[in-house]
Amino acid sequence: MPSRPVKALLAIEPGVDAEQVQASLPADSDFNVVGMVAGAEDALRWLRDGAADMLLVACAGYSDRALLLLDAVSRQNPDLAVVVLGHGSPNGFLRRAFEAGADDIIMLPSTRDHVRFEIHKLLARRQGAEAPTHGDQSRLVCVLGPKGGTGKTLTSTNLAVALAQRGQRVALIDLDLQFGDVALCLGLPPEKTVYDLAQSPGALDFDKLDAFLATHSSGVRTLIAPRRPDQASAVGAELLREVYSILRANFDWVVVDTPPGFTAEVITSIDSASDVVMVGMLDSLSLKNTKLGLETLELMKYDPDRIFLLLNRAHSRVGISQSDVEAVLGRTPDIFIPSDREIPRTVNEGIPIVVARPQSEPAEAFGRLADLLGGPAIEEAAAVAAAPAANGGSRRRLFGRKV
Ligand SMILES: Nc1ncnc2c1ncn2[C@@H]1O[C@H](COP(=O)(O)OP(=O)(O)O)[C@@H](O)[C@H]1O
Ligand SMILES: [Mg+2]
Repeated sequence: MPSRPVKALLAIEPGVDAEQVQASLPADSDFNVVGMVAGAEDALRWLRDGAADMLLVACAGYSDRALLLLDAVSRQNPDLAVVVLGHGSPNGFLRRAFEAGADDIIMLPSTRDHVRFEIHKLLARRQGAEAPTHGDQSRLVCVLGPKGGTGKTLTSTNLAVALAQRGQRVALIDLDLQFGDVALCLGLPPEKTVYDLAQSPGALDFDKLDAFLATHSSGVRTLIAPRRPDQASAVGAELLREVYSILRANFDWVVVDTPPGFTAEVITSIDSASDVVMVGMLDSLSLKNTKLGLETLELMKYDPDRIFLLLNRAHSRVGISQSDVEAVLGRTPDIFIPSDREIPRTVNEGIPIVVARPQSEPAEAFGRLADLLGGPAIEEAAAVAAAPAANGGSRRRLFGRKV
């Protein structure tokens, strides 16, 4: 955290309620808005004098003016921290904003505390300080895919169960808040959902959250998506961040299944993630979208070593070869999942393929994904979990049940 107050210049785009934006900015002594401007020229003039450490650009939607400002600023003041305060996530704007030089995007409405946290995190990162880390080794894996029907839910559910089969404590979150189907894929009744959690009064702690997590027979604890699409808006980024933080303190792994694209919730989750699994499919449209997704992560400065690429329906005979895939995506997929008739069957039965057909090719590939993410640590844990019962005292417990 900087020792002197942060000096921020606030650029307000047409259509933005300046008062509302100011109401979400930190109100404490280590953050000062030193000026408020409407246009790029004014902003550049202010910045030329070195009067600010940070530029905040508040936009109402897709704004070419804002992109031009970002572009000009990143050329004139390449070292300045630039944050876009956005409303909604208009198609392509977030990606273009990162391309034009934004360091971070904060979605409004948001709380002062969150904006303050993001601003200080960005400045700390820029000063080379470590962003806040989770003291333990817990991991949050965000399963992404730019299109519906590519296999994100298939991957999240099977990865979560494969990790549990390796003796890991796993929480699985269905972030497809409108059309989530994790509960169906795991055969869980949607008794309590994240909507019910959002509606329940009082502060959030693990005991409270625990009551909203369904338990799968593998031991995976699941936060189920709302029953109806209109309930999705009750789940905000603030709640998600709290949920992730509590889960990471209490589980070895948090796996997040996402809706298609980079929605505000997805961006929040990527921000909290230690790893990303990008799911692509073997057709040219899906590959193009997968490439855009990978590029967006790169623009968000996501560590490329923490991105795993999974190609689903990888052996389909659709006239695209592996070298075509590599040429389009610029990298070799880490995991290949073949098309398999058993997959829709296991989805319909609500039994993940890693349980229903553990010897099948897709199940083994999901196991390899778990091993790839976990590395040697998971092999050790798997050995402990698989140890004979005589060794019961030292065997790992999953939520009170010995496995
Ligand atoms: N490798 C595969 N082989 C056969 N069917 C598949 C495969 N991958 C996905 N499917 C089918 O496609 C459907 C959509 O997959 P899903 O994981 O729900 O996609 P997403 O979550 O990305 O929208 C699944 O229910 C399953 O029936
Ligand atoms: Mg899905």
